[in-house]
Amino acid sequence: MQEVSIGLLGLGTVGSGVIQILQQNASDIQNRCQTRIKVSKVLVRNLNAPRNIQGDFTLTDQVEDILADPQIHVVVEAMGGIEPARTYILEAFKNGKNVVTANKDLLAIHGHELLDAAKEAGKDLLFEASVAGGIPIIAALKQSLAGNKITEVLGIINGTTNYILTAMTEQGRDYQEVLEEAQMLGYAEADPSADVDGLDAARKLAILSSIAFNSRVTVNDVYVEGISKITAEDIAYARELDSTIKLLAVAKSQADGIEVRVHPAILPNTHPLASVNGVFNAIYLVGDAVGETMFYGRGAGSLPTGSAVVSDIIQVVRNLNTHSTANINCTCYNELPIKSEQD
Ligand code: NDP
Ligand code: HSE
Repeated sequence: MQEVSIGLLGLGTVGSGVIQILQQNASDIQNRCQTRIKVSKVLVRNLNAPRNIQGDFTLTDQVEDILADPQIHVVVEAMGGIEPARTYILEAFKNGKNVVTANKDLLAIHGHELLDAAKEAGKDLLFEASVAGGIPIIAALKQSLAGNKITEVLGIINGTTNYILTAMTEQGRDYQEVLEEAQMLGYAEADPSADVDGLDAARKLAILSSIAFNSRVTVNDVYVEGISKITAEDIAYARELDSTIKLLAVAKSQADGIEVRVHPAILPNTHPLASVNGVFNAIYLVGDAVGETMFYGRGAGSLPTGSAVVSDIIQVVRNLNTHSTANINCTCYNELPIKSEQD
């Protein structure tokens, strides 16, 4: 059995989720791509911090242990922040490694530079986890909807703010108390002001609209307004109007350019996005061929985000196998009994 070694940068909420999924679904994943996927080394800042995940990997605080290891073919970046993440990813490409990242902060500013570097090195850069946690929206835009001209993207793409607004609306809870709960659950960013000020949603919108409209949108192009000024009175007022307040991300392709904005909006309760609650995200898209379509799922958290990262890892492994001389066939099915209606 072929084996692919992963070097994981970061063992926090997302990194732990990645390891947990690779452990609990190891045999299914192995069957799907005829390859054993092994996380061999994990980079952390603090070697002595208590960890809630164990495994057959080496912890290190020296990135060169991973980047200079010729046995490692895939680097998974789940550290966050701009630097040193940007430098590590560029170095990974120079050292012939493929990269999977969950880092929307970095992609929303340096995404095009990183994609160019990947292309130059002939390596993959995949980033499904960077937008809307577990929802496979990047793959949908890049593949399943690739035949469309997308005209509109409308989404709830920040789990923390949706969690806060839902708790304020449905339970009358206090803003600060719910924010602290979202931090404890691993939904919020290291600096949660990025969530509540709308910046995290703006970063994701820059990534989404770059792909949807095949253009180069950065976070600096996005108009941003967060939820920190929303009061209990605003929520009561929306309720009187049979409406709900949501933090909306809006991108429209128009004749004179692309409009990209993130701000709170009062949605009538009949709108499909009005019932997206808690940590759930949803993205409503309009394509000229498909018409309206909507994607829904958990927008943050260890396993939903890990799900997106692991799907990218599997895609990289499939690409490696397709290009390898062994040319291993990755489409392998379990021989499960097929039940007929009579059973
Ligand atoms: P955490 O803060 O939980 O974990 C970060 C990890 O990276 C920690 O293990 C930390 O080490 C390590 N780390 C950070 N900086 C360094 C450094 N300079 N050198 C070595 N190790 C470092 O973050 P998350 O897991 O929540 O987020 C990771 C990334 O995923 C971010 O880009 C985030 O935006 C993105 N993301 C997060 C989601 C979520 O739901 N949390 C959802 C989608 C994307 P140590 O443990 O020693 O401190
Ligand atoms: N802080 C982000 C959120 C994590 O709440 O949506 C997922 O990207």
